[in-house]
Amino acid sequence: MFPELSFLKKIAAEKALDFIEPGMIVGVGSGSTVKMFIEVLSQAKIDVVCVPTSIDTELMLTKYGLRIASFLEIEKIDIAIDGADSILLGKNIILKGGGGALTREKIIDYTAARLIIIVDETKINREYPVVVEIVPFAYNFVVNRLKRYGKPELRISRKKLGPVVTDNGNWLIDLHIPLEAIDGRFEKEIKLIPGVVENGIFRRDARVIIGKKDGGTREIDINA
Ligand code: 5RP
Repeated sequence: MFPELSFLKKIAAEKALDFIEPGMIVGVGSGSTVKMFIEVLSQAKIDVVCVPTSIDTELMLTKYGLRIASFLEIEKIDIAIDGADSILLGKNIILKGGGGALTREKIIDYTAARLIIIVDETKINREYPVVVEIVPFAYNFVVNRLKRYGKPELRISRKKLGPVVTDNGNWLIDLHIPLEAIDGRFEKEIKLIPGVVENGIFRRDARVIIGKKDGGTREIDINA
């Protein structure tokens, strides 16, 4: 990662601390920006309980000594802090799934009373595929159906032969659609294809914190 990019992510991650209060149950997203949030959260020593959205995040929370609860044992999530791959301004769409954790992220992010998304400014209107998590058994069928929307590509692992396997034991399809053609209605349509577990189109109210090159932040609201 370019040092500049990590600087922008850090600024957004620090700003997210303003939304955290002692006693909160915090959903913790996945990815490099969220890792910076975990770092600053542990330094701030605010007494919160964290609910991880991936094994990767769980390992990081454990490393930093933060309190963790399983999603099975809690009744509510006060706030979720998560990253994103692209923010489609004007369409009120957040694209996620670059780290393959979209399903658990969507469960936690949609459950939380409040969602805060932390990004660097390169993520605004960035070209990015719609990520689709699928049951491996349905691969051929789902890929054929996804061709109606764009160009589906099975995500292949870099350090192991074969497909990337998610924390849920599933596969990922990166569905390449030109940015201008992505429609919020695809979230539900794609979800209805048998064999699809979840997709990376996130549409819910969220506050987006953007780390900027000038060292400041900009905040925008997504009203889905
Ligand atoms: C993981 C995600 C991440 O939030 C997204 O990929 C952003 O990651 P990063 O902060 O590393 O750019 O959706 O499934």
